[in-house]
Amino acid sequence: MPSRPRVLVTWRLPSAVLEPLREACDVDLHTGRASLDPEVLRERLADKDGAVAVLTTRFDREVFVAAPRLRIVANVAVGYDNIDVLAARDQGVIVTNTPDVLTEATADLAFGLILDVTRRLSEGDRLVRRGGWSGWSLDFMLGTEVRGKQLGVVGAGRIGRALACRARAFGMRVVFTDRADAAGAAVEFAPGALGPLVPLDTLLHTSDVVSIHVPLTRETRHLMDQRAFARMKRTAFLVNTARGPVVDEEALVWALREHVIAGAALDVFEAEPRVHPGLLDLDSVVLVPHLGSATRETRTAMAELAVRNVLAVLSGQPPLTPVAPPS
Ligand code: GLV
Repeated sequence: MPSRPRVLVTWRLPSAVLEPLREACDVDLHTGRASLDPEVLRERLADKDGAVAVLTTRFDREVFVAAPRLRIVANVAVGYDNIDVLAARDQGVIVTNTPDVLTEATADLAFGLILDVTRRLSEGDRLVRRGGWSGWSLDFMLGTEVRGKQLGVVGAGRIGRALACRARAFGMRVVFTDRADAAGAAVEFAPGALGPLVPLDTLLHTSDVVSIHVPLTRETRHLMDQRAFARMKRTAFLVNTARGPVVDEEALVWALREHVIAGAALDVFEAEPRVHPGLLDLDSVVLVPHLGSATRETRTAMAELAVRNVLAVLSGQPPLTPVAPPS
């Protein structure tokens, strides 16, 4: 490694994770409880060779232009819609993400949300807390069983497939729509024995639970719009643990209010941390504050992978988990 490179770390990481970075680099650690604002980010990046990013910090073209020495941005997330990867490429900056290490935690959360919304767990919790429970009765708060039902996984990547394994263990059938198909292009990827690939329209029309696992791109923004909800069964549920803007929240509020679908469970939102006020009033929706990968084990593994990516690139090695800019 050349004379100690400088690295900006845009969020507090566990000190054990930072140790190898501190051994090899001068670390400028942002310790505030809010994300760096754009101006401060540009200032602090001006003399940096590398950066560890989190998804609430936006790396846009202006940021890359203001950082002439920058060689790598390692995002502590699998999604990287907070980073302008084309601008990064234009400025010769490598961008990495953290695939694999968060797959199981995120699939666990997605399946937890499926059980929550179909068995009305959060709704029941709210009812008990407000003193609204008057005792057991045969027809009280009946939910929907998942066994024998169809899960439609939109996005046949790692997390979608890990969710399919859980669903099959609970007796669900699984169908997939690939990301390419969701974007209207040809399907190239087969998830194998877990379930067939079907067109998005078929998936929406036939599934009892639809779970979103596509990245946010121009093509997937508002993939779940009014038309998509109208294609779903009236008894079906939507689950989103991917990115908020894949779902048009205004259309979702309409679909829930008009009983076009039965319910939804959301871990991600269009304008986090703001939640559409129409969702807050509805008992048929479970709302969780972006916890997909939020376990101690997984967040540590994500931070470690980001640090390993920075160390690799700054010592002239290839990155471990680079992201490809759109072609
Ligand atoms: C979290 O949302 C991630 O993309 O890792």
